[in-house]
Amino acid sequence: MGLGAYRPALDTGITSPYAHLRQYVVSTTLEPDVDPAVTVVPGDPLALVRELKDETGSGLDVWLCGGGRLAGALLPEIDELLLKTYPVVAGSGIPMVDGAFDPTAFDVAERTAFPNGVTLTRLTRR
Ligand SMILES: NC(=O)c1ccc[n+]([C@@H]2O[C@H](COP(=O)([O-])OP(=O)(O)OC[C@H]3O[C@@H](n4cnc5c(N)ncnc54)[C@H](OP(=O)(O)O)[C@@H]3O)[C@@H](O)[C@H]2O)c1
Repeated sequence: MGLGAYRPALDTGITSPYAHLRQYVVSTTLEPDVDPAVTVVPGDPLALVRELKDETGSGLDVWLCGGGRLAGALLPEIDELLLKTYPVVAGSGIPMVDGAFDPTAFDVAERTAFPNGVTLTRLTRR
């Protein structure tokens, strides 16, 4: 998680939102001892993800929870996207993947459409 994705949990007093997983929060400002189950990473998140991939042998064991700024920094290492869409026009917002205009192609591997208009799409990097 980036701090922006972690912050909503923190604001409600939840310091270990995914206690069943090893948790890393990328932030230069968060205090390092926020929770014993959370490792705060002030440095390069790409290096961290590459280490984790080497350790696990598969990028699919690493779950990027977000948000958009962190996703932009980690785009070179994103192998799969799970994209939820909703039938709502919301106006401006936070980019799903922040960064410079630089299209990266993915293929649709799976798509589930629900009766209420929500879709869940799994995309794999081409
Ligand atoms: N729909 C979903 O499934 C989903 C999932 C997760 C999050 N979200 C949403 O995403 C939003 C947050 O996204 P966001 O783009 O604003 O924030 P973000 O990427 O989660 O966090 C940004 C913060 O994380 C740290 N950070 C991120 N990338 C870094 C990098 N490359 N190097 C160093 N530090 C880095 C910085 O904190 P410091 O300033 O402390 O250094 C930065 O201010 C929230 O609204 C959340 O609800 C949605």
